[in-house]
Amino acid sequence: MVFDHDLLAEIKSRADIVDVISSYLNVIKKGRRYVALCPFHDDHTPSMDINKERQTFHCYVCHHGGDVFTFVADYEKITFSEAVKRVCEIINFDDPRLHKHEVIKPVDVDVQTLYNCINELQKFYEYGLQIDEGKPALDYLAKRQISREQIEKYSLGYSLQNGKMTISYLQQKGFSLKNIEDIGIALVRSSDTSDSNAGRLIFPIKNSNGQVVGFSARKMTSGDDAPKYVNSPTTKIFKKESILYNYHIAKQSAKHDGYLYLVEGFMDVFALDSIGISSSVAIMGTKLTDKHIELIRRLNVEIRLCLDGDKPGQEAMMKIMSSLDKAGISYRVVSLPGEIRDPDEILKQDGEEKLKVFVKTLVDPFNFALNYYKNISPLETVEDRKKVISHFAPMLIGIKSKLEYEDYIYKLADVTRFNANAIKNFIKEYKADNHDKTDKSILIDEPKYEGINVSRELRRLACAERQVLELMANDKDAIDFYEKNIGYFNIDLHRDLANYFVEYASKYNSVDVSMVMDYISQSDNPNKGKLLYELSAIPLHKFQKHELDEILNDCLITINEERTKNYNRTNIKLALEGKSPAEQARLLDDYIKRTNEKKAK
Ligand code: UTP
Ligand code: MN
Repeated sequence: MVFDHDLLAEIKSRADIVDVISSYLNVIKKGRRYVALCPFHDDHTPSMDINKERQTFHCYVCHHGGDVFTFVADYEKITFSEAVKRVCEIINFDDPRLHKHEVIKPVDVDVQTLYNCINELQKFYEYGLQIDEGKPALDYLAKRQISREQIEKYSLGYSLQNGKMTISYLQQKGFSLKNIEDIGIALVRSSDTSDSNAGRLIFPIKNSNGQVVGFSARKMTSGDDAPKYVNSPTTKIFKKESILYNYHIAKQSAKHDGYLYLVEGFMDVFALDSIGISSSVAIMGTKLTDKHIELIRRLNVEIRLCLDGDKPGQEAMMKIMSSLDKAGISYRVVSLPGEIRDPDEILKQDGEEKLKVFVKTLVDPFNFALNYYKNISPLETVEDRKKVISHFAPMLIGIKSKLEYEDYIYKLADVTRFNANAIKNFIKEYKADNHDKTDKSILIDEPKYEGINVSRELRRLACAERQVLELMANDKDAIDFYEKNIGYFNIDLHRDLANYFVEYASKYNSVDVSMVMDYISQSDNPNKGKLLYELSAIPLHKFQKHELDEILNDCLITINEERTKNYNRTNIKLALEGKSPAEQARLLDDYIKRTNEKKAK
């Protein structure tokens, strides 16, 4: 084991599997159960079951199963130890024991060089703000009411007019022209390689670990037709579509604040920061990518959309809303009808108090969309008007309060210009059409015993073994019974699992399926995935002592009968005498396999 048992147990006691998985997926509560669309296969009905009591999950369809750590490991495609640390990040938990076994990962040499190079460049840009040439840049920042603290907090900088200086500075620090090209600030030319950010204000863009990976450089002049911002191109370390500006800071505070503001630009992040809101990220433009969605989902907090109030901003908001709807992420929208400015402009023109009120003016998606269709982009064709009704139908059939329902219908009638009764009829029909479907889609078969490939005569034995195994997963007494009276299982998979239970029980004098899963995850057992799934599919049930004894004894009888049958059928019994249980099991397995092969011929 890389991590010790107590540490893993402690993390688990803090990291509820439902919460952690909710930070990745849209988890639905179904009575006492929790279900989600399984991310490990192309799932259309929620096939993944999350067991809160036992802290495990499993998918009935693709047979993926495990505990909180294996979920994160499989989802993020990282190792078990990395997943343990990731879970700690998610729940904001740290412990010296986590770092004791820090594996020194072989760093990608190329990437490390680029980081070194970009870090040097970052220092150079910061220095640019401190010298005389940088004075106009400082003045510009002051004019935009960006404080000294903010300059430091966001590591702002200035790139000297003479772009060749940047290049020679980096060369003198030992970086090649190739390195310089690879960090995305210049195209190498034969004579005049020059910094493409020259003469601009620098906004470093950091990844979720706070490492600078690219830059956005703003011009300080107006009236010319140079682009407002020059952004780093895609490089080995920078992919704009997978980065949210300020995520590394916001991810810390959002958990505590319970919300995350999504804004358009750098200046809006600074504006929110000035009124004490650290939990904001900028999408740096207007498109919200799948990768962005993954990042914000991970925080598992309320999303507050706060895009510019102008028409393009509001259009972008509608697009983002539908991406979030599809992803099942809940959100509200900052919206003040008639307000077309962005947060930065509000701050500058009307001051802090006004911005504080503005960012708290939150409306639900329905009311935002209604206002959008009413005032910003009125519905023209009948098709468009119908589309709006269809769009809200799933939401409307979920409304319990009659008054609220009526209110929605009348608002919808107003915007779509359909008669309220016609809308009601449409919703009724929609409900009738979809009622069956929705109910069925969430209904999941109870787990079935997956017949391990065994011959008919072995099936009785397999079932009895399976039954004992299930009891062992729920009751320490069953483990003792197994050790004392059964000794070994004939089916490989059962025997493997039973051994893990016995080993765990002998150390901790208890049974804990989710902890046993960590044992398995950290072992080099080639059958891990299958073992984890089998464990995660075992139903949770604790019997009364007398019932337990009765079932165990029944199973023991079956197991003995079946074994004797097998012994008698050949002379294998002789071969087994005097052998250790493990050796007996191996011989028996071997024998069974051979008989099966013979039969198949
Ligand atoms: P905005 O035009 O709203 O910029 O674009 P801003 O942050 O409010 O900046 P100011 O107030 O005009 O100084 C929003 C975001 O879109 C990206 C930037 O990331 C910007 O912050 N953008 C905008 C570009 O990448 N290039 C551009 O030319 C313009
Ligand atoms: Mn702006």
